[in-house]
Amino acid sequence: MTKHLYLDRNENLYGPAPACYSALQKIGAEELSVYPRDFLRGVKSRLSERIAKDLGIPEPQILLSEGSEDMLKQAVHCYLGPGEKILCPAQSWWYYQKVASEVGGETITYALKETQESYSYDVEEMLSLYRKESPRVVLIASPNNPTGNSFHDDDLKKLTDAFRESIVVLDEAYWGFRNSSNEHIAALIEKYRNIVVLRTFSKYFALAGARVAFAAVGASLSRLTKFSSRYLGYNRISESLALAALDSPEYYETIRRQMCLDREAIYVFFAGLSGWRCYRSDANFVLVKIPAEVREPLRSFLEARNIHIKFFSEPEFAGCVRITLGTKEHNHRLLSALSEFLRPGGGERGAV
Ligand SMILES: Cc1ncc(COP(=O)(O)O)c(C=O)c1O
Repeated sequence: MTKHLYLDRNENLYGPAPACYSALQKIGAEELSVYPRDFLRGVKSRLSERIAKDLGIPEPQILLSEGSEDMLKQAVHCYLGPGEKILCPAQSWWYYQKVASEVGGETITYALKETQESYSYDVEEMLSLYRKESPRVVLIASPNNPTGNSFHDDDLKKLTDAFRESIVVLDEAYWGFRNSSNEHIAALIEKYRNIVVLRTFSKYFALAGARVAFAAVGASLSRLTKFSSRYLGYNRISESLALAALDSPEYYETIRRQMCLDREAIYVFFAGLSGWRCYRSDANFVLVKIPAEVREPLRSFLEARNIHIKFFSEPEFAGCVRITLGTKEHNHRLLSALSEFLRPGGGERGAV
């Protein structure tokens, strides 16, 4: 029986840096049984202190959470009241369109445009919708899931300038896979007092199971700062793992470079197939439009080989699949299976 290969949830299958395993081995009774006492030094934790230093942002403006799902929930629960509106992308992570309903808010969506190579944000459309709807919260994602496109700096500036009356949540969950520069965050936080930039250790740092993330927040958002504070501290094990990951930039840079090469190989593979279309992506996944008649045979063919990719049922992505990039070997296994499927008679060869 071949091993299951899960390329369906945008995890980083290279796993975390070796330093993370060493950090785990050093966990002792102190980390397990005792609350942290970092507050005695006037900071939330060793992790918020470290991130603040790395990003050049005051520590009180770095908030910690159990994954960025948690921080997104906190930001929306903190600021969105019943009947108030949240603006979010129509083609995006499903949770964006659900979170407002948790507090009786209303979700308004803006559409992304399909371009020659990818998707892009329609900035003019977003601005006109903003003026019409006056949302309390605006959600933007860069890179966006599952389209993989990022914001151009100029567009981001234009939007954040225009959205000053609202809380702007910029989700950068898939930061790092195109480039791992952090320079823009301090500038954004300094200029826009109403912005929340979400970052997670789940994707680039391959720590999805540790459930650890952070947000850098503008100076006006003291309500969120208070809302999210935890008087007994944060998960000390996850914190040690995250610190070890931050100490391992070379490890993650090597993965980033390999993923860039693999992404290019995937584009080339699909470019040669008529009726298929792979969108360019800045993240650790690609969106692929597939011929309608192929969907069910492909699903059965891959399942029979224990390979799992995401087949969308949402109308926005009808006819599309999302493939998470695995390791070099995983990607090779997937492309070999797809080649076999595409050979004459291949689709009928369901079971192996
Ligand atoms: C766009 C986006 N943001 C945030 C998350 C949440 O990730 P986590 O809670 O692991 O940080 C995901 C998860 O897949 C995602 O796709």
